[in-house]
Amino acid sequence: MNTDNRFDTAPIAAIIFGATGDLAYRKLVPALYELDLQDRLPVNLSVIGFARREWDGKFMQEHFQKAVHEYARNEGVQTERLERLLGRMYYLRSSFGDPDGYHRLTALLEELGVHNRLYYLAVPPESYRTIIQNLGESGLASQSDGWTRIVIEKPYGYDLSSAQELDQQVHQVFSEEQVYRIDHYLGKETVQNILVFRFANGIFEPLWNRRNIDHVQITVAETVGIGSRAGYYEGAGVIRDMFQNHILQLLALTAMEAPVAFTADAVRDEKVKIFRALRPLMGEDALKFTYRAQYVSGMINGNRVSGYKYEPGVASDSITETYLAAQLYIDNWRWAGVPFFVRSGKRLPRRVTHIDIHFRMVPLSLFGWRNLAGDAPNILTLKIQPDEGIVLTFGAKAPGPVNQIEPVNMTFDYVSAFGGEPPEAYERLLLDCLSGDATLFTRTDEVQSAWAFTTDIIEAWKSKSVRNLPVYEAGTWGPEGAEEFVRQVDDHGWHDE
Ligand code: BG6
Repeated sequence: MNTDNRFDTAPIAAIIFGATGDLAYRKLVPALYELDLQDRLPVNLSVIGFARREWDGKFMQEHFQKAVHEYARNEGVQTERLERLLGRMYYLRSSFGDPDGYHRLTALLEELGVHNRLYYLAVPPESYRTIIQNLGESGLASQSDGWTRIVIEKPYGYDLSSAQELDQQVHQVFSEEQVYRIDHYLGKETVQNILVFRFANGIFEPLWNRRNIDHVQITVAETVGIGSRAGYYEGAGVIRDMFQNHILQLLALTAMEAPVAFTADAVRDEKVKIFRALRPLMGEDALKFTYRAQYVSGMINGNRVSGYKYEPGVASDSITETYLAAQLYIDNWRWAGVPFFVRSGKRLPRRVTHIDIHFRMVPLSLFGWRNLAGDAPNILTLKIQPDEGIVLTFGAKAPGPVNQIEPVNMTFDYVSAFGGEPPEAYERLLLDCLSGDATLFTRTDEVQSAWAFTTDIIEAWKSKSVRNLPVYEAGTWGPEGAEEFVRQVDDHGWHDE
């Protein structure tokens, strides 16, 4: 039974291009299984894997069975449910450029009686163009008897001009309303909660501006290195991998105005305004307000890990950054003069994403040097992951005969409030694109303005050639130089819990 009233019984097919890859295995199919467990999938959903490998339907089903056992969020896989889901899966073997594959796909869809189609590009970006062109030429993008949508994973472009070019190719076949660009951070519960926290509660919004906020820090730290992804990462670095998308999205949700309605376009209109209001970082400014670095060997969780230059596939003279800190300004009325410090890195000591709102200090300190809470003890931390929740730090009088003030926390903890870990981002994202809600997907102007801002920085870096980047030891919080940014406005530097 389906308990999600967004769907009727019309058959839908999700066609996963690149179904033999990692994304389908680790994320997409486990998410479909979880949605099915919650009775949220459309009742007549079929899943078609479209890929080059010499697999057949049975092989793919076995492969995805393992995927669910390995990656399902809930322990104790429900075998019968899983069997039923696997029974709705088909495999179509074809190269992405072979028109015959698309004819066979048309025939399969007809056989299944499906007119509503979701195409999911779980493939490397080099294949986007070929698939999109073939979908267009074979008539598979047509919406004459049902809807068709296309989901495109990141990276969406490599810089501004390649993103524009990709948009052009996409728009030759699909209209913007049919396009669902993924930034999986938007599917995270705690990221969605940023807007709920800000706009469903009356008490914070009056404080959310330059009059009360001193500065904002956004941290996206990872312990992982680049694994086997050197081929991609060498040409990407943190700036393309995390900054242009996830970090700028977190920034936009933190800083945007209230949308006129909670609809896809209204929300995205407000985010775009933030990207447009970002003070451009060009030339010398880009060099001054960004700090990039690369990890060298160090200890992560008690194990020695190798330095970036020694990762398989990385050039020995690589200057790809694995750490980036930047100081940004949003030149609008709400945020004029408020610095936004952002940082992200691989091989840092902990995997943690949080947004720290540092409020201004009191106008006059009455408690002098005994104020152990620091000058400005009010920090609101939105803990995106892990230990999801929100913490408000404030100064309290420590018990005793003198006025000694210490920082204490008021805490909302996701697990204790809601009784479980938040669902995986892909569950929400898959459900939304199946039901046609694009709120959590990025729109063309949003992606392009984020790229425009990012490309200026990349260009400035390129114009000043360096032979080596500053380094930081794996397992530390990054280079000392990046601390300096923040110390200019806050003696405490980056806020680590
Ligand atoms: C991806 C990046 O988009 O996000 C990866 O390509 C990164 O390099 C990952 O590790 C982080 O995602 P999450 O959900 O683990 O924070």
